[in-house]
Amino acid sequence: MDRSASICKSVLDVIGNTPIIELSRLTKVLDGKILAKMDYLNPGFSKKDRIALQMIQEAEHSGALKPNQTVVELTSGNTGTGLAIVCGIKGYPFIAVMSKGNTNERARMMRALGAEVILVEQAPGSTPGTVSGESLELVEQETNRIVEEYGAFRCDQFNLNGNFNAWYLRAAREIIQQTKGNFDGFCDFMGTGGTFAGLCRAFKEFNPKIQCYVIEPINAAVVAGNKVLSSGDHKIQGGGYAMSNLMFLKNLSIDGALQVTDEEAYAITRRLAKEEGIFAGPSSGANVHGALQLLKGPLKGKTVFVVLPDSGLKYLSTDLW
Ligand SMILES: Cc1ncc(COP(=O)(O)O)c(C=O)c1O
Repeated sequence: MDRSASICKSVLDVIGNTPIIELSRLTKVLDGKILAKMDYLNPGFSKKDRIALQMIQEAEHSGALKPNQTVVELTSGNTGTGLAIVCGIKGYPFIAVMSKGNTNERARMMRALGAEVILVEQAPGSTPGTVSGESLELVEQETNRIVEEYGAFRCDQFNLNGNFNAWYLRAAREIIQQTKGNFDGFCDFMGTGGTFAGLCRAFKEFNPKIQCYVIEPINAAVVAGNKVLSSGDHKIQGGGYAMSNLMFLKNLSIDGALQVTDEEAYAITRRLAKEEGIFAGPSSGANVHGALQLLKGPLKGKTVFVVLPDSGLKYLSTDLW
């Protein structure tokens, strides 16, 4: 909806419809353009507000979620924040289960929004401030236990179609309208793969020539067919869990896999802030790094679209800033 045209009934009405900025300062010396969707401008300061709303609406519609039933989900903090907002407005108690490897800002924000937050220890030997696939598995076990205990609705972002649909049915339409379809490539750092799969499918239906690349941490590049190195620990929160069996990727045609190091993602996140005035998180840096690689390689002279998933404010306690 057009935010400036009327008074909204609740904050749910301003989820989505985020602006797209051309990163012309970062691409000054390159041949080509990067278009970046400012999804950190959603009410919970991340793109995951979109899927929180879509998953809850679909569960209400199908009857899977009953009035007043407790909602539970495993989160790196962003889906949890989205769910805290959506459940708070709609009147469902919400419990977020998160690894201690994610930043404390996220837990504090979810609690402020009315959620109960349960923190799970990282896998033994993990570096503080990182979340590997192994650490995420511990969060999954605790989530399942809590769902059972409360007879709760598991708002399962790795498996519910609402995650895919938020991107495939809604965000893709926004992006194609805003850009008039004038882009040649798309790349995305994956967690659940909902963003990548939903947009990739919609973009290719719109124009099969649009090339779609996944981005993975260099030490957890399973889509690229590489082995997971040093337990797959990395600092790019929200994804890179080295899962080779992501549901949303089934039967999806992918043009390639790019790799990113923590240092590269951090460096571009810092340049986004300094040069473009965009205060985003490390997965935004990873996405823009991927886009720059494409402009230097297979998409030279072309236009690449990326999403900026969350706000730099969520990383004030880390070594990013
Ligand atoms: C900051 C951030 N970046 C990237 C992702 C990955 O998005 P997706 O789960 O759609 O693959 C997430 C997911 O939680 C995230 O929170």
